[in-house]
Amino acid sequence: MVAKSNPATRHIVSINDLSDDEIETVFETAQGYLDLLPDKTFPYRIGRSTDVASPFILATLFYEPSTRTRLSFESAMLRLGGDVITSADPATSSAAKGESLADSVRVVANYADVLVIRHPRDGAAKLAAEYSPIPVINGGDGAHEHPTQTLCDIFTLRTKNKSLKGRNIAISGDLRGSRTIHSFVYALARFGANIMLMPAAGMGLPAHVDHRLREEFGCRTVSRDSYQRENAAVDALYVTPEEPHQLSLMSDIDADVSVKIRNKIDAVYVTRFQKERWAEKDQAYPTIDAKFLKEAKYSDASVMHPLPRVGELDISLDTDDRAVYFQQAAYGVPIRMALISLLLGLHKEKSFTTFDGGFPAPKTTIYQQPMGTGIHCANPNCIVQEPMEAQYAKNKFYAIGLDDPARSKLRCAYCESDIEHFVTANRKTKTYFSDTDHLRAAIASRALDDIILFANAAEAERAGFHAKRDATARRTGSGAPSTD
Ligand code: NCD
Repeated sequence: MVAKSNPATRHIVSINDLSDDEIETVFETAQGYLDLLPDKTFPYRIGRSTDVASPFILATLFYEPSTRTRLSFESAMLRLGGDVITSADPATSSAAKGESLADSVRVVANYADVLVIRHPRDGAAKLAAEYSPIPVINGGDGAHEHPTQTLCDIFTLRTKNKSLKGRNIAISGDLRGSRTIHSFVYALARFGANIMLMPAAGMGLPAHVDHRLREEFGCRTVSRDSYQRENAAVDALYVTPEEPHQLSLMSDIDADVSVKIRNKIDAVYVTRFQKERWAEKDQAYPTIDAKFLKEAKYSDASVMHPLPRVGELDISLDTDDRAVYFQQAAYGVPIRMALISLLLGLHKEKSFTTFDGGFPAPKTTIYQQPMGTGIHCANPNCIVQEPMEAQYAKNKFYAIGLDDPARSKLRCAYCESDIEHFVTANRKTKTYFSDTDHLRAAIASRALDDIILFANAAEAERAGFHAKRDATARRTGSGAPSTD
């Protein structure tokens, strides 16, 4: 018998698996470790160890290169007095023999108490979590998310007395392929920051991240022109939250400061070209250097980078007071000490052993159908596209925004990318419909087993379904799939 995943086990796959209060708790706890175990010379460095986690083992299961994430997780566990086991090179693990992620996770879960996973496929952390009886922390899954990097990033801004509410955060580079950016923008929106997108050509945010920012995180897009009219010095696309979900991350700064000087940039976050995620390896890419940052609007901007940098952030900035990227990396230890210890329930007053719902997601229904039939995730890098892994994944989607035809879509439960066009077929009547009323009605009447979704009419027809005029359902008043 294999160890079974327990639905109550807490996992951190996305930054949105943590509520705003929990993010605050991570920061308080990390600061507590910095105060308790200081290094006299470097205030951002943990200088000593404790033994609170001595009975516990952390496993790192890394299928992609890493320096900071793996070593800072391991350092964090060792600083807590726990032990570490690691599989850092897929070439020397059973992955090289073709073992699936689901099997590896179920095996390693017997050897450790908490598991950190990094994988080149989007959605791999979610799949791992589905099979793991111990907490899984996402250390980066493809181009999807990297939640613990975001915790380091926001904590760094916080130590610079920069609460996020009303701050102007510019983000430069590969916004499509950088998982750090995807977790980061969700957090920025949640805490009320303004996000300025400065993508390299053709490397803007993925459509599903953009949808979520506008439809779930209360952001509104402001055109370059209208923004420039109000703020002559700013020249990038601007997105600003309408309803920040928390007024401010910090209470001890003047949160109005950025409102007064709207054209000031508070941070510039730079990322490298994620060439491992692009077919075309040779693309034009912006460089951030002292000349770029000379403009007055950047005079107080923290210069951030998750690292590694490979030329897009000039090394002459290392001695610039605005540079905080090595601090972001250093904070990986206290932040990850905090997260591990909270997940293991090592603190009396606070614990992440149960899930408090994270960021309140919109109400969605999971639609699931057998693999090998009907619609599939369209993201070629999704974990479900790997035939070995797909055997263990479920073919499931969140049905989003069905009340509004302009917004209705399916969202892959693993990589969270969206499918905007699909047709709904009824197994009983052998008919298919191209509007979303029928899926909505099937959800309402709990008749999802009668439904099969296809990417388009041609696929539905190939599978033996025939078109039903959408007006039929409307005439019946219910919108339910016809059963005649
Ligand atoms: C990032 C990653 O792996 O996504 N690195 C990190 O964890 N600090 C950024 C990158 O590789 O560009």
